[in-house]
Amino acid sequence: MKPLIAGNWKLNKTVEEAVETAARLKIILQGITDKDILICPPFTALDKVHHVIKGTNILLGAQDVFWEEKGAFTGEVAPEMLKDVGCDYVIIGHSERREYFNESDETVNKKIRSSLADELNVILCVGESLEQRKAGKQETVVEQQLEKGLKGVKKADMKFVTIAYEPIWAISSGNPNHKPATTNDAQEMHKFIRYILNILFDDKTAESTRILYGGSMKPDNVKELMAQPDINGGLVGGASLDAESFAKIVKGF
Ligand code: PGA
Repeated sequence: MKPLIAGNWKLNKTVEEAVETAARLKIILQGITDKDILICPPFTALDKVHHVIKGTNILLGAQDVFWEEKGAFTGEVAPEMLKDVGCDYVIIGHSERREYFNESDETVNKKIRSSLADELNVILCVGESLEQRKAGKQETVVEQQLEKGLKGVKKADMKFVTIAYEPIWAISSGNPNHKPATTNDAQEMHKFIRYILNILFDDKTAESTRILYGGSMKPDNVKELMAQPDINGGLVGGASLDAESFAKIVKGF
């Protein structure tokens, strides 16, 4: 399966800085076709970045979306609006949204279904906190997030769904002391996610769904992580902000 490396820029970069990074990536990642490459700038930079990368091998994604199409929802952005500015993907249910913005499995599910209805590819983020892992609850947590997040999603639509496993305790942006999951822990959870997808859908869907790892993925550990049989790519935060470091990750396996 073709791997996907996605850069989640989070709350970083002015329009000018985003355009500059995208323009640099366009040059240094030119010609790579055996991997899908995605960048997710903040909303304000999507349109301008789209004009820089249009027609290249770099895809565009947003970091969140709302489920309604239009109306009195101050501050929100609809799937159709993301498509309008050139988005191919949207990240849904990132742990930072769950933690700081009251994102629940129910709102994640609404966002996923609404995005799929508008033919946007979605990246559903799942992952446990340190406390949950210490209590041995990581599988229960991830299973629930998958089950509730994907409720009502049709098997046929699963080809537009990517899962990102991001253990909260391994996310480095904002927590420079955090370390990535061991390749063993990551692989084990990815395998478990595939097992749950098999139960929720079927074997074929489980085998063909891309499962990304996120949490301190860097140029120096990408090779080892990507060598695991159930890791099909990465969702990269901190190390995606600098074009050269993101390119090293894309080229590093
Ligand atoms: P990180 O972030 O690469 O900085 O750990 C990953 C993410 O939160 O998507």
